[in-house]
Amino acid sequence: AVASLFEKFQGIFDIGAAVTPRTIHSQGVLLKKHYNSVTAENQMKFAEIHPEPHRYTFEAADSIVDFAVREGKKVRGHTLVWHNQTPDWVFQGDNGAPAAREQLLARMERHIEIVVKRYRGQVYAWDVVNEAIEDTAEVMLRKSKWLDIIGEDYIAKAFEYAHRVDPNAVLFYNDYNETNPVKREKIYSLVKSLLDQGVPIHGIGMQGHWNIHGPTLAEIREAIERYASLGVQLQITELDLSMFEHEDRRTDLIEPSAELQAQRYEQMFDLFKEFRGIITAVTFWGAADDHTWLDDFPVKGRKNWPFLFDNLHVPKKSFHNIMK
Ligand code: G3I
Repeated sequence: AVASLFEKFQGIFDIGAAVTPRTIHSQGVLLKKHYNSVTAENQMKFAEIHPEPHRYTFEAADSIVDFAVREGKKVRGHTLVWHNQTPDWVFQGDNGAPAAREQLLARMERHIEIVVKRYRGQVYAWDVVNEAIEDTAEVMLRKSKWLDIIGEDYIAKAFEYAHRVDPNAVLFYNDYNETNPVKREKIYSLVKSLLDQGVPIHGIGMQGHWNIHGPTLAEIREAIERYASLGVQLQITELDLSMFEHEDRRTDLIEPSAELQAQRYEQMFDLFKEFRGIITAVTFWGAADDHTWLDDFPVKGRKNWPFLFDNLHVPKKSFHNIMK
């Protein structure tokens, strides 16, 4: 019999997977056995859960939380404030004008209050703010309607609101390209300034959308050490190892590089294990190769194989290497 992934890492860090109501069924056996934490891939995002001012659509998110509760899994909440997958009405004021600062702050507060309160005691951690930092060096924060209308303090406010509703929830700032030195330093200084202001932020989420060639182990280590120096906990929140480098738009790759991926996964997990007590969870952005957002990004319809289990949920070499 195949040993369980999350049992292997028990006492070191949780092993999570992003799920949808569909994959809870199609990947249910795998999820129950190998993962002890789940994250809704889309169903807790603003547009999905709060599509209109007075309409909340909790069914899909509830079904994920119910599954987790039934199976004794933890839930990471994703995400409360993001520039993406947020409905236009949120930013609209009266008569077609943009919302005013106070109006948008009130909407953000209300949204956070309703969503966080609903899952209080079930969702133990939240990605409160997602991807607020610009990738390039010129400016600090990503241009967004949150920033335009509220100003830079929208980030601190989101954390304060979430903390007020659920003081026990572990609150994260979550972002990608976290190993790029420019972005890494910007993430570091944002979180440092929030901590210096006394904002209730408890962790940094490193998404971990990496590939079989990069970033290097040294780059990942540098990022982990830098973030850990702030005294916050770290979680790898959206791990997948694409078979393609980011710039690679080829569609003719038939044979995935299983060996290289397995080596990389093994080295990464060895690295993560060194940070016991600091890295508290490693969540994959899916559970097996039959369902991954990378099948549509950056090339629509191009198959990818980023996980530890193949299309039929059979453990790959990547899995066996981690379990050594
Ligand atoms: O729900 C609509 C459906 O009504 C419509 O018919 C269909 C047609 O395309 O689209 C559906 O929405 C899709 C949605 O996923 C739900 O399946 C969107 O097109 C699609 O763009 C969206 O992609 C998600 C993406 O976030 C959106 O930015 C991916 O599934 C999800 O994996 C991805 O996750 C993000 C994290 O939240 C943040 N970090 C990066 C990560 C990968 O992009």
